[in-house]
Amino acid sequence: MPALREAISAHLGASRGVRCDASQVFVTSGTQSSLELCARTFADAGDTAWIENPGYLGALTAFRAAQLRTVGIPVDASGINPSAVDWHRNKPKLIYITPSHQYPTGTVLDMTRRLAMIANAKAAGALIVEDDYDSEFRYEGPPLPAMQGLSRDAPVIYLGTFSKTMFPALRTGYMVVPLNLVEPLRSVLARMAPHGRVADQLALADFLRCGQFGLHLRRMRRLYHSRRDVLLEALQQEIGEFVTVHGSSAGIHLSLQLREAQLVDTVIAAAALDAGVVVRALSAHATALRPHGWNGLLLGYSQVHEASIAANVHILAGVLRAAMTIVGRSQQGSLV
Ligand SMILES: Cc1ncc(COP(=O)(O)O)c(C=O)c1O
Repeated sequence: MPALREAISAHLGASRGVRCDASQVFVTSGTQSSLELCARTFADAGDTAWIENPGYLGALTAFRAAQLRTVGIPVDASGINPSAVDWHRNKPKLIYITPSHQYPTGTVLDMTRRLAMIANAKAAGALIVEDDYDSEFRYEGPPLPAMQGLSRDAPVIYLGTFSKTMFPALRTGYMVVPLNLVEPLRSVLARMAPHGRVADQLALADFLRCGQFGLHLRRMRRLYHSRRDVLLEALQQEIGEFVTVHGSSAGIHLSLQLREAQLVDTVIAAAALDAGVVVRALSAHATALRPHGWNGLLLGYSQVHEASIAANVHILAGVLRAAMTIVGRSQQGSLV
C-alpha cells in the first residue's frame, strides 16, 4: 500500500539515514522473502553471493535455494573482512552483510571497512544487501546510520523488518532498492502471485504516521536497555573471567566469546539447554567450511524479564564452571 511505503520511507530517512523516496520501498513478508527476491531478481543461478562467516543461515538458505554459489567471508571484531584475494578470485554479485550489528557475533562494521566495501562493490559491479534487522535499538555510542545512506550512489539494497520492532508473526518487512532497480523488481513482482495483506499494511501505516510506532520504539528501547544492563552486570559478576562480551551496544542479543579454546560452544549450549537456559552456539552459524574462529554463545535478552536474568546467568555459570573443571582435569591428565 502506498501509505505504508510513504510511512516507511519517512521513518527510515529520519531514524536510519536512509536516502529514498516511497517508490524505492517494496513491502515484503519479512526479511526472508526480501532475501529470496534479491536472489531471484538481482542474480542468476551460478553467480557468487558472499555471506558473513559466521552469519545468518536464513540468507544462506535463500541464496542456495536460488542456486547461487555462496562464499563465507570471515568476520572479526570489526565486522566482515574480505581479503584482496576474495575480491579477485571470488568476485561477488551479491554481498549479504549485517553491518550495524553483525549476526550472530554482534560486532559493528567500522567506517573504514564500510567505505572500502562500497568502493570495492562498485568496482566489482556487485550489490550489497544490507540487513538492518535490529538497529532501531541502539544503547550507546554515536548514532550509526545505515550504509545505504553513506553516499548517494552506494550500490546497496537495504532490508528492514518489523519482526524485531513489532513481532515476527506480523510477517512484514521491506526492501529499499536503488532507483535503477525499481523497474526490474516491479516487473518480477508483477509476474508473481499477488501477496500482501492490505488491512495489516494500512493499520501499520497509521501506526507509523500518527507517532505511536516512534513511542513504542522509545518504550521498547528503554526496556531492552535495562534488560541488557542487568544481563551485562550478571555476566560480569558470574562469568566475566571466562568470556569476552561482543555486540552489547545495540540490538536484542549479544555474544560471548569463550576464552578457553578447549571449551566447545555446541557442548556448552546443549548442557545449558538441559539445565533450562536457551543459548545458541556461534559455531552453529558457520556459512562455509572455512573455519571462522568464533567459539562462543549468542544470548537473546529482549524476551527475558529482568527478575529472571540473574538466575539464568547463574545456571549458565554453573555449566561453564563444570565444563572448565573437566577441561582442567584433562589438561592435568595430559601433563602427567
Ligand atoms: C539477521 C536477521 N535478519 C533478519 C531477521 C528477521 O527475519 P524476518 O523478517 O524474516 O522475520 C532475523 C530474525 O531472526 C535475523 O536474525
